[in-house]
Amino acid sequence: MRFIEWTADMSVGSDALDGHHRMIIDCLNALHPLLDAEGRDPRILPVMNTLEDFVLVHFSEEEQEMKRAGYPDWRAHKELHDRMYDVVFSLKSDIERGESVDARRLFELLQNWLITHILGEDRKYVPYTATHATAPVAQWTRSSGRDR
Ligand SMILES: [Fe+2]
Ligand SMILES: [Fe+2]
Repeated sequence: MRFIEWTADMSVGSDALDGHHRMIIDCLNALHPLLDAEGRDPRILPVMNTLEDFVLVHFSEEEQEMKRAGYPDWRAHKELHDRMYDVVFSLKSDIERGESVDARRLFELLQNWLITHILGEDRKYVPYTATHATAPVAQWTRSSGRDR
């Protein structure tokens, strides 16, 4: 299992949302070395709490951004977010209750859901958000000849 690296091909063209994705990836990377045992490392829970917070903030801001940009599939995207959040929350709750968690499965699940989501679903809204960008990015789009 490898550590995850944020790469430019994961960019959704927004410093704020890219920053959230990087924070989520940092959490997964922090989780990675703690998962060799049986998921009983007491350091796992604080990381899961942080991940839950980041995921909540990020999903909510991303949904606002999609709506603002007029992305037509934002509701379906929000449903994916809701399902992902449920998984994060239920895993965190299991750990909180001291239930045994298959640590490697936990990591693989989170990695697959979150990274596949960023690379697959998140990039679908980029054509919409890119044309509804804030001032500095709009200047860039004008200079590249893609004025709106
Ligand atoms: Fe995202
Ligand atoms: Fe998303």
